[in-house]
Amino acid sequence: MAADPILTVILHEDGQDKDIHIDTKRSVGIQLAEHGFAELPCAGGGRCGKCKVVSPGLPESDEDKVFLTQAERDRGVRLACRIEAGSLVSGTRFERVNQRERMVALTDFGNLPVELDPVIAKITVMVTKATLDDPASDWTRLTRSLDFEATAPPHVLVELADTLAATEQVQLVVKKTGGDILAVRPADLPMPVLGLAVDIGTTTLAAYLYDLMTGEKIAAASAENPGRSFGSDVISRINMTMQDRDNTARMQHLLAEGIASLARELLADHGFLAADIYDAVMVGNTTMLHFLLGLPTANIALSPFAPVFTEAWSVPARAIGFDYSGDIRLLPGLASYVGSDVMAGLLTIAGPGPTIYLDLGTNGEICLADDDEVIALATAAGPAFEGQNIACGMASVPGAIAELSLLPDVRVDTIGGGAPQGICGTGVLAAVAELLKAGIVDEGGRLQPAEECEEDVRRTFGPRLKQNDEGTYFDLGGAYFSARDVREVQLAKAAIRAGIEVLLREKNLTAGDIGQVLLAGGFGHYLNLSHAFRIGLLPDAVRGKVRSVGNGAGMGASMALLSRDAWLKVATLKARTRYVELSSRRDFAEAFMDHMGFGDDEL
Ligand code: FES
Repeated sequence: MAADPILTVILHEDGQDKDIHIDTKRSVGIQLAEHGFAELPCAGGGRCGKCKVVSPGLPESDEDKVFLTQAERDRGVRLACRIEAGSLVSGTRFERVNQRERMVALTDFGNLPVELDPVIAKITVMVTKATLDDPASDWTRLTRSLDFEATAPPHVLVELADTLAATEQVQLVVKKTGGDILAVRPADLPMPVLGLAVDIGTTTLAAYLYDLMTGEKIAAASAENPGRSFGSDVISRINMTMQDRDNTARMQHLLAEGIASLARELLADHGFLAADIYDAVMVGNTTMLHFLLGLPTANIALSPFAPVFTEAWSVPARAIGFDYSGDIRLLPGLASYVGSDVMAGLLTIAGPGPTIYLDLGTNGEICLADDDEVIALATAAGPAFEGQNIACGMASVPGAIAELSLLPDVRVDTIGGGAPQGICGTGVLAAVAELLKAGIVDEGGRLQPAEECEEDVRRTFGPRLKQNDEGTYFDLGGAYFSARDVREVQLAKAAIRAGIEVLLREKNLTAGDIGQVLLAGGFGHYLNLSHAFRIGLLPDAVRGKVRSVGNGAGMGASMALLSRDAWLKVATLKARTRYVELSSRRDFAEAFMDHMGFGDDEL
């Protein structure tokens, strides 16, 4: 008799055991990720060594021996993506290696510069009673009192019948265009009319709940994008859906549920229901919006990078797994790698002169906007500045080194003030800037071994400059920064500078002509500008013109939610935005090489 392909294993977390079923015909790592118990930064490719779980007694894989220390393996640490289903038995127990990182997105932005004019209206009307003289239907009697052509789905007709049984004064929630009636209630009952704006980041979700009738922001919150368990970047997640078509549906469900659960928290905190949401505007990079609609994403990763859609889109919320009463509207994107989150951010630009809008998330999207047009491009620049692809890299959570200085003394600041466990994006930038300042990293980007440093540098830092299999590293106590990490930052920085240079050339401008540089997103918000200028992340000529706009994508989504005019303006913006594809641009490749070092600032 064939063995049962389904096993029950135990996940142990926060002192509690939870039983889950594992299908032995599917990847164990993916199933642990589906339960949020493992993260697969390289999508289960066995290349990152970060999907650690503890399960003593399981055999060691080849990759375990490469990525894990002997002490870890003795403790039962294994790479989740390398666990063979055949090695499990019912009752196999898994524990987490570390406390789960809780990702938080920036939810701040300034006041919304829009006039309140949502797509939804609430109106009160008087509907006469049916009589023997006027036995017209409920719908006929209702529509007689309206000055527009109305339609309604069956469940609203039920609400109409119930309401008219109780009263003649009724309130309606109506779409201003098309006349769809979304809800009917007696006029004397409370009837909240809420809207939701969501920024779907690759790493984090940010949601904003509004009262559509007053424009008041009721609450905002952020949470980890649950798709992160399937890969830290979009390409890893796309690969995951290419390996198994069912993963597209899993990703859709995971993302919709992640957003819905974040919104549920906001609603519950204020005593509202999901059905009180009558409109939602969501933005995100092109891949995230494809996941949200359950669309194939393979072409986003393959030349010529043609996605299924980049247009503005509107779907009934219930069609994609939300219990909301109206539609979910997606702002348009521009191309596979310049999504509607960037378009939303562009909506927020106000200020002097040509503007550079820089969103350093997992990708680096850069736009140059003036009165005539917007030019946009995307560079593969983000991961290092999110603490990814860094030996001791971690998210901005307690224990992460967020700031450091080396002179006059080594000082390391961690989030939460505890012992260092790793280094996050701002710490990465600080490390390179300080190592440069101290003369430990040279202008070519080489992290010099102690014996090659100047004598005073060797005397001060020699004991911290150590060697491992990969070369020299600087010991920060609890974490370290390696020569390869410096290289990652060089690549990211060169990509951003080269991107800026291409944009300036397109408009025949120099950096000195730029009126302002707007930094969007969390990294931009927490960025230490003196470090950024020291490593040459931004041209020297824009000193004094740089400011953070917080979550520009969330702000733009909120503007489009509250104002029909703002929503329409994005279409105009898109029409005058030109996308520059960098993959075949020789001038980008040349500028990239020019900016690999740390001594440049000729723009
Ligand atoms: S090594 Fe397992 S997900 Fe990267």
